[in-house]
Amino acid sequence: MQTIGVLTSGGDAPGMNAAIRAVVRMGIYRGLKVVGIRKGYSGLLAGDFVDMDLGSVADIIHRGGTILQTARCEAFKTEEGQRHAVEKLTARGIEGVVVIGGDGSFRGAVELAKRGIATVGVPGTIDNDIAGTDTTIGFDTAVNTVIEAVDKIRDTATSHERTFLVEVMGRRAGDIALSAGLACGAETILIPEEEYSIDEIVERLERSFKRGKRHSILVVAEGVGSAMAIADKIRERIGWEMRVTVLGHIQRGGSPTAADRVLASRMGAMAVELLLQGHSAKMVGIQNRRLVAIDMEDAVARPHRPDLGLFDLARILAI
Ligand code: F6P
Repeated sequence: MQTIGVLTSGGDAPGMNAAIRAVVRMGIYRGLKVVGIRKGYSGLLAGDFVDMDLGSVADIIHRGGTILQTARCEAFKTEEGQRHAVEKLTARGIEGVVVIGGDGSFRGAVELAKRGIATVGVPGTIDNDIAGTDTTIGFDTAVNTVIEAVDKIRDTATSHERTFLVEVMGRRAGDIALSAGLACGAETILIPEEEYSIDEIVERLERSFKRGKRHSILVVAEGVGSAMAIADKIRERIGWEMRVTVLGHIQRGGSPTAADRVLASRMGAMAVELLLQGHSAKMVGIQNRRLVAIDMEDAVARPHRPDLGLFDLARILAI
């Protein structure tokens, strides 16, 4: 193998730049040419390629977003799109591609592998919703962003004796809500993986009110449904002052944490090694602190389960 490509796809995540840097620098260290593919699979179809040298990834390890930019691409999901992509890669002499993204991006990478282009996936998404890896790049930073925001919200919630519902991202997964909720001491955490009842939420709020607590934070994963609608239902029952904060895309930006930079650097470097060893359709994961290579098709087919032990613990500690 002489030339590899690297692209970022799907929602961006802090640490993607650190992963790109690792792929480029490890690739060059191993004597490869590295080509950046801009704007994910859309850029691939458009032949939007850029040669990467050592300097092209200087000064990016600490920056959020992705210097290669990213996109969600419908055209690439068709057979025609995938054939076209292979033509573009072959014309440029790219034999292997590192795909940094989430499960949708990996489905595309599996299709490329079936058509003869070696692919390795690096899990980059704030949602942490990929099976086969304990953590994805960007998750730790997003959780820390939520913590910072909720700590501030708690200040004002206490001053005004208000209950706040804070809606966090995660798509269909509750991982961000779970980790951030536990770390913020949220009184209630709602995640899509666990059923909830308004009765029980109200009961918990009233119980803490009785022992003198006049403010509360409920962290709600977006996969549960609209925090606004849930707040309306609770308000009808308790009649206290309530506010809703939807944190939104602030969770996707910002400088990556040390944990995300280290993870991204390790995973990006390993992806290059896997391509050089002749692997394809593999995803780099981390399990019990060790990097592993797992079957990419298997990773996208298996459902992700968050650590529900955190859910139980948070409930006990917020009693
Ligand atoms: O997958 C990352 C993510 O931020 C999810 O948490 C969220 O549901 C979605 O992307 C938002 O997508 P968009 O940026 O396209 O609105």
